[in-house]
Amino acid sequence: MRLAILLIVFVCIVSANAADMIVGDTVHRKMVFHQRVKEFAIPFKKRIKTLTYVDAEKRMIKGVQVLDADFSLASANITEGGVGFHHVTVRMKSQRSHPLNYEVEVYV
Ligand SMILES: *[C@@H]1O[C@H](CO)[C@@H](O)[C@H](O)[C@H]1NC(C)=O
Repeated sequence: MRLAILLIVFVCIVSANAADMIVGDTVHRKMVFHQRVKEFAIPFKKRIKTLTYVDAEKRMIKGVQVLDADFSLASANITEGGVGFHHVTVRMKSQRSHPLNYEVEVYV
């Protein structure tokens, strides 16, 4: 019985973690950019941060990975460029009253 409850809790935690955003191919590609984006929590506020990467050598981006390091209900989107472009702009938004803690990686 206790195990069943534990299992349900675990499944809930896993399914609540929908904050990661992975597009394109990140597995067989070369990582050209890696940055941790951190913003502390402000009560009742959502922290929003945008980050732009432009490839200086004009290589085409093959994959973008934005991972939520806090397993919160934050969200991340690509607002400009991305796979097939030389640049990408990622917009990250924290859960209300929560910190923002993302790991952004770009692959070519
Ligand atoms: C990303 O897009 C979804 C769906 O349009 C939206 O609900 C969410 O708030 C957006 N997140 C950010 C960080 O812009």
